[in-house]
This record gives sequence, structure tokens and C-alpha cells, in this order.
Amino acid sequence: MTIQWFPGHMTKARRQIQEKLGLIDVVIELVDARLPLSSRNPMVDEILSGKPRMIVLNKSDLADPQMTKEWLNYFTAEGHIALEVNASTGQGTKDIPNKAKELFKEKIERQIAKGIKPRPVRALIVGIPNVGKSTLINRLAGRNIAITGDRPGVTKGQQWIKVGTEMELLDTPGILWPKFEDQNVGYRLAVTGAIKEEILNVEDVAFFAIKYLARYYWQPLKERYELEQPQPQPQDFENPDEIVAIMEAIGRKRGCIVSGGRVDLAKASGIILRELRAGKTGRYTMESPF
Ligand code: G4P
Repeated sequence: MTIQWFPGHMTKARRQIQEKLGLIDVVIELVDARLPLSSRNPMVDEILSGKPRMIVLNKSDLADPQMTKEWLNYFTAEGHIALEVNASTGQGTKDIPNKAKELFKEKIERQIAKGIKPRPVRALIVGIPNVGKSTLINRLAGRNIAITGDRPGVTKGQQWIKVGTEMELLDTPGILWPKFEDQNVGYRLAVTGAIKEEILNVEDVAFFAIKYLARYYWQPLKERYELEQPQPQPQDFENPDEIVAIMEAIGRKRGCIVSGGRVDLAKASGIILRELRAGKTGRYTMESPF
């Protein structure tokens, strides 16, 4: 799904989230473990207006495990509860209700002190499109739920999903938008498939990906495509021809040849991105907290 965010869309999305905030106790902010900043909304603190929140790094199966640890440390040092999950398999998701309870602890203790039996913690999942919100809702629910997009005047038709005995989840997630103003954010989102690369040029997106992988993940790239050239040196990254040479080598390996023996770069780019997104080129993270 491609979503283009214009000021009108953003205002509407923001209003829809704010309508839901009144119903819930804690927020589960879902980000992509491969790009924990670019897949976040930069105004999230303001939008969530101080609701207790945990940051959940999803798709951790596709991210560099060492970098995921660094990101968890980073968010923890910022005072957040942070955890990594794979919503597709459910790995790590069992911790979510416990963490939600932890976030809501003071209120629960106050209720107990007053002799009130505490009710389940009510949670809302928020995140940018494609980050895995629906997958996580289904995983936590333990069944497939038809998750529909938001409509104006939303809150009435919504259902609570029981997650064990101590948490309830709103069945419709809150949709946040990424910050496209920075071109590199757009490229990172396109590389991971969070936005369709058609918004950008497929060859430019693959170029961005190969430049990054050649610098930080050369070994898995070399192995995947049986590359014969040496890893580019730091100064080579300033020269686009060096990166295009790698893309061409990949294209040749994959038979993307047009008449005259030239490499069809658009076709090669499509393959590079498809395989990267499916995790076939190894696990990678596209930004670092330091
Ligand atoms: P959204 O509601 O936030 O828009 O995202 P959604 O759950 O639809 O997930 C977007 C895509 O990400 C889906 O793939 C989904 O399977 C995949 N996904 C979600 N969580 C994980 C995860 O932890 N690991 C991996 N590897 N993938 C994850 P799709 O290709 O759009 O659909 P499909 O392949 O599931 O049919």
C-alpha cells in the first residue's frame, strides 16, 4: 500500500489517534528494527501527549542482531521500555502484556490500595504503514481479525481484543506517518519496502541500498551474488561508477542482459530490492544510534 501524506491526511490521522488515546492506558509504538528512527514519526511524543508507551522493534528477524541490541540500549537509556519482536512468528511478543502492565503499574497499585480489583490494561498499537501493526494484532489476538482502515468518527465500532487476562488491545491500530522531508529517510523506507519504490526511482533506491551494503555488509552481499571484485575503499564511495559496477555485476549474475550485452539496471535493481526485503541478502540495519 502506498500512502502519500499531505497536511490534510496528517491532520486526520492525528485526530484519529487522539480520539483513541482517551480510551487506552498505554501505547505500543511499533517501529522497524532495520530503521528504528526513520520508521518513527518525529512528532510521536507530541501526538501521544504523554501516554505511557513502549517501543517495540518489529521485524527483528530481518535486522542485524547486534545493532538491534544497540538500539534497545539506546531507547532504554532514553527512559523507554523497549523490546524486540518478530510479529510474523510471535517471537518476543509474549512479553508485551507484562511490559504493558509495568507501564501501568502505579495506577494498578493505586487501585489495589483503594480495594478496587484492577481491570486489564488497555493498549493501542501505533506505527507507520507496513511496520507490522495488523500482523502484531493478529498475533496477540491468537486469531485472524479483519483489520479495517480508519474511518472518520471511528471510535464507536471498535472492539477490545483480550490478550491473556491482563491486557486488552484496541482492534484498530493508530496510523502514524513517516517524515519524508529528508531524502535519506525516503530511501531507507523504500529499501525496506515500507514505501513503494515507485515513489522514487527503482535504480536510485537500489543504488542507495548497494552503497550502504557495500560499506557495512560487504561479506553477505559478496556471498549472495558471488561478487569477484574487492570491497570498495572509503574514497570509492564518492564515485557512483564504483557502486554501479557492483549493480552491474549482480545484474550479470542474474542474467539481466539486454541487446549489446549491456546490463538491464532497472531489472537488476528490482531483483536486488526484492531479495533484500525478503532477507535473502542477510540481516541488515540501515541506521545506527551512534
Ligand atoms: P501494517 O498493518 O502496519 O500496515 O503492516 P502489516 O501487518 O500488514 O505487515 C506488513 C508486511 O510486513 C506483511 O508482509 C507482513 O507479513 C510483514 N511482517 C510483519 N511483521 C513481520 C516480522 O516480524 N518479520 C517479517 N519478516 N515480516 C513481518 P506482506 O509481504 O505485505 O504480506 P504477507 O507476506 O504477509 O502476505
